[in-house]
Amino acid sequence: MKKKINIAVIGCSGMAEGHMYGVTDNKEKANLYAICDIDPERLALRKEKFNLDIAVSDYRELVNDPNVDAAVIVTPDQLHLEMTVAFLRAGKDVLCEKPMALSVAECEEMMRAEKETGKKLMIGQVCRCTPAFVQAKELIDEGKIGDLFFVESEYAHDYSRIGGYNNWRITPERHGFIGGGCHAVDLLRWIAGNPTEVCAYSNHKCLTSWPVDDATIAIYKFPNNVIGKVFASIGCKRGYTMRSAFYGTKGTIICDNTSPTMQLFENKDPNSETDFTEPQEIEVNINNHNVSEELRMFIDALQGGGEMPISSMEGASTIAVACATVESSKNQTPVKIKYPTL
Ligand SMILES: NC(=O)c1ccc[n+]([C@@H]2O[C@H](COP(=O)([O-])OP(=O)(O)OC[C@H]3O[C@@H](n4cnc5c(N)ncnc54)[C@H](O)[C@@H]3O)[C@@H](O)[C@H]2O)c1
Repeated sequence: MKKKINIAVIGCSGMAEGHMYGVTDNKEKANLYAICDIDPERLALRKEKFNLDIAVSDYRELVNDPNVDAAVIVTPDQLHLEMTVAFLRAGKDVLCEKPMALSVAECEEMMRAEKETGKKLMIGQVCRCTPAFVQAKELIDEGKIGDLFFVESEYAHDYSRIGGYNNWRITPERHGFIGGGCHAVDLLRWIAGNPTEVCAYSNHKCLTSWPVDDATIAIYKFPNNVIGKVFASIGCKRGYTMRSAFYGTKGTIICDNTSPTMQLFENKDPNSETDFTEPQEIEVNINNHNVSEELRMFIDALQGGGEMPISSMEGASTIAVACATVESSKNQTPVKIKYPTL
């Protein structure tokens, strides 16, 4: 076993606390070495909770600390680029929260820093750790529902009370489809591959004081003649969920990240196209922010020297799709999706 990885978590929100537990859950392999936040109360709260010696308000102190091996960035989206590049260029590995950044150009700058330093960058697209979605992907990959023909996911949230620290979510550059809708886009990309084209519409009826449209519907062309759709709302009046469905020629999976079961419809006779069973209810753990698994994957990949399980190219490709979707909804025209080439 290699030496324990000293990890610094940047940001001290409730979400960041999940990442701190993610590190301490893996304490045989990693050590929660330091934390950082500009908010003194949040910083003090987590310093005490995790019994830490090092808690700073300026992340650059940790960039320059030779004892830090890796950083987990859980700060407002607008800071992901600056902080990730600073840690990579200082020779640290990085796990950066989703969305990787707010434009493809920013993502490419982060990927350039990763390539030039040889350090590793993983993106926290946490749906790839959500039990129901992991199981859906396994069933699809083993051919349980036949040949996929339609995939859909939604990101239904109400941001009216979660503008974030200093209202960082309420800015024109942080479009809800990029910041939140990226979860649903990433889930569909993970299952069905990179869409080639998008056509989207949006409106602005719920969060009328916000500077961006709050609801978007997008349809996509995926490889292998699969079609798909994402609906994202950041102002809808219902409980948060990511209701998703995957339709294949021999079955259908309906699942989300907030229910204790998922449904599988399957042909009783796999060679028949005309019968189907009653839905089978499959029990799943509800763990819609399974950052502990995300940290386990990150730490194991660092210890094992392998590729990052959710690579920077994956994070950047999701942003490419999300940005093309916003462009399509603004221009009311289909858009061909351009992926990063680094
Ligand atoms: N994976 C998920 O499902 C999920 C869920 C929530 C948030 N997020 C992501 O996590 C990130 C943080 O979101 P949040 O909900 O924790 O936001 P938040 O506003 O609750 O917390 C952000 C924290 O960052 C701190 N901060 C701001 N500027 C800083 C700086 N220069 N240096 C150090 N600390 C600084 C703030 O003081 C605050 O404590 C965002 O990128 C968001 O998109 C992901």
